[in-house]
Amino acid sequence: MRQVSYLIPKTMVPNSDIKFLQWALPRMGYRWEGFRKPRNQVLKRIRERMQQLGLSGGYPEFKEYLESHPEEWKQLDRLCDVTISKFFRDRKVWEFLRDHVLYEMLKKHEAKSVNLWSVGCCNGEEPYTLAMISEQLTANSDQQKNISILATDRNAEVLERARTGRYPSGALKELTEDEITTFFHETGGKDDEDFEINEFLKQQISFELRDIQYSLPDQVFDIILCRNLVFTYFTQERQLQFLQLLKPRLANEAFLVIGSNEELPKLGWLEAVSKTHRVYGRY
Ligand SMILES: C[S@@+](CC[C@H](N)C(=O)[O-])C[C@H]1O[C@@H](n2cnc3c(N)ncnc32)[C@H](O)[C@@H]1O
Repeated sequence: MRQVSYLIPKTMVPNSDIKFLQWALPRMGYRWEGFRKPRNQVLKRIRERMQQLGLSGGYPEFKEYLESHPEEWKQLDRLCDVTISKFFRDRKVWEFLRDHVLYEMLKKHEAKSVNLWSVGCCNGEEPYTLAMISEQLTANSDQQKNISILATDRNAEVLERARTGRYPSGALKELTEDEITTFFHETGGKDDEDFEINEFLKQQISFELRDIQYSLPDQVFDIILCRNLVFTYFTQERQLQFLQLLKPRLANEAFLVIGSNEELPKLGWLEAVSKTHRVYGRY
């Protein structure tokens, strides 16, 4: 009789990398499914770490090391950061936020400040996109612009890049010509820093190093963007714990935005404002 494994495409056969991730991720409160696509970024760092530790016996030796050095789990946790983002990621979501959510909010708030939070802001693409849509909304209108944006990430390296606001030209390819000329200037500098965000956008954002596993900001927000982090990578139990902590940080009638491929666990206090765009309102 033919062996079943012949019938399975090679790419689907679990290899030692996958088996290791399937063993380690749930132990840190992560879902393996979330890492299916970006796993190579994470695996590369894990291999480098094993090399750094002088572990030549591969994953079996690394597992033993983790079991005898519990502090190494924290290090491994950090290696699991998926640091991929884009300006106007899922553009239709941003158009909905600008033309409906933020538009109405600015009208209602009048002079009162609108507080926004980008959780896991990566290299800054998300908070800068927030600043761009608010600028697009208010630049040619008499609407008051009173927006403050908090952008947090636990990864000091990406946060520093976000603060600097300098990007290679490839990072701008989703932007229109008009957006590039309005929001960036050319640096004439190094290859990977061709364009820099204009100062008037930077001024709207405070960047903060923060690991949401340990602490959340004290402020109350009108819109929280938590995209492609908690609801992709965390186990459902951790998602629910996080949402409990988030609840007092969402003002009444505030909005939570999650990633376009993410789902919220069932809750009694958030209602879909747009299921398509993954925008939820607190009631
Ligand atoms: C895939 S990126 C998402 C970026 C952006 N929100 C987006 O949707 O394009 C995930 C970001 O979350 C950050 N991150 C991961 N775990 C975190 C944690 N526990 N606390 C804060 N930031 C975290 C990573 O460093 C990374 O920059």
